[in-house]
Amino acid sequence: MKITENVIWMGKIDWELRKFHGKQLSTYKGSSYNSYLIKDEKIAVIDTVWKPFAEEFIENLKKQIKLDKIDYIIVTHAEPDHSGALPILAEQAKNAKILCSANGVKSIKGYYHKDWGFQTVKSGDKISLGKSELTFIEAPMLHWPDTMMCFLSGDNILFSSDVFGQHYASFDLFDDKIEDKEILYYEALKYFANIIAPFAKKTVKKIEELKSLNLPISIIATAHGIIWREDINTIIDKYFEWSNDYKENQITIVYDTMYDSTRKMAESIAEGIKSIDKDCIVKIFNSARSDNSDIITEVFRSKAILIGSPTYNNGILNSTAAILEEIKGLSLEGKKAASFGSYGWSPANVKIINEFLQNSGFELFEESAKTQWLPDENEIRKLREFGKKFAEFVGKKQ
Ligand code: FEO
Repeated sequence: MKITENVIWMGKIDWELRKFHGKQLSTYKGSSYNSYLIKDEKIAVIDTVWKPFAEEFIENLKKQIKLDKIDYIIVTHAEPDHSGALPILAEQAKNAKILCSANGVKSIKGYYHKDWGFQTVKSGDKISLGKSELTFIEAPMLHWPDTMMCFLSGDNILFSSDVFGQHYASFDLFDDKIEDKEILYYEALKYFANIIAPFAKKTVKKIEELKSLNLPISIIATAHGIIWREDINTIIDKYFEWSNDYKENQITIVYDTMYDSTRKMAESIAEGIKSIDKDCIVKIFNSARSDNSDIITEVFRSKAILIGSPTYNNGILNSTAAILEEIKGLSLEGKKAASFGSYGWSPANVKIINEFLQNSGFELFEESAKTQWLPDENEIRKLREFGKKFAEFVGKKQ
């Protein structure tokens, strides 16, 4: 599929993908591994595809170009979802130089245990392809140390690697062809929340740098999902917004429960919040029954969260521990939090949750809600009051 007259999309749409990063990240809309072939006087291939599709990729590439005519293979990011076909391509494209960042060499050698004779590039380096040239822009930790982008003059395409991507499979490669933009932007947000958010501060700086370069970007060709050519400024602005302690007027409550006590607590606290902040969106998730990547997306967009678990063997339930561990990895800032949970004889639960929340960068509410056994009417009233006080602590503004 042509992106422009000289640039062909050579990727693979993975309609079946439902889990990514092993089993860690949910991808309900599938994904794509985007690779690009640039045909100028020189021939360049930018990135490849995940290994299960390597042979199919090579066969498709051969239909476009003799592999020994390829001058450059550019690896913007060596994570195997993009470099899976590199071993075959590197062996068969005998005249190609492999260009990557210095950290890319380490990742490629680390994964494939081969030295194909790499040429390292750094920010500002350029290569001429004939009428057009490629300028490299390193983007370390967005989201791996090796990540880089490159800008193609003439067609004005920014090949952005994982940045601005989404796990969204579609035959219609371009954003202006997508009818349901709401889902597209939700997938972009989910991608950001789960993958890019830990590196938000670096993202802000990189976007400022990109803007200062004044590149006349007409197309952002991502490594996953849809290519941006209509909403270029919108997705850049969204990334800037998401990278700056992002929060919507939302409080997310995440709990697990054994005999419904902690569930009743979650619902009563939510009623309390809604009673004094009607505009605030309150969402409740049972972490044992919900998808963690979805929860992370909701936590990311929230101004505050409440995490609840009953005490279990003097600890907390598995699903609560798992979601707390994921939340910790996001390095979120500027959000508030509190804990709650039922117990029989030891309220160790809230202490453990509070420690996690504090170590994860949340501003902790001074109180936790603890209920012994099952909450009765009196306890339900107290939990609603707790919800009101928490809402006041959080404040009505975002
Ligand atoms: Fe899509 Fe970080 O690989």
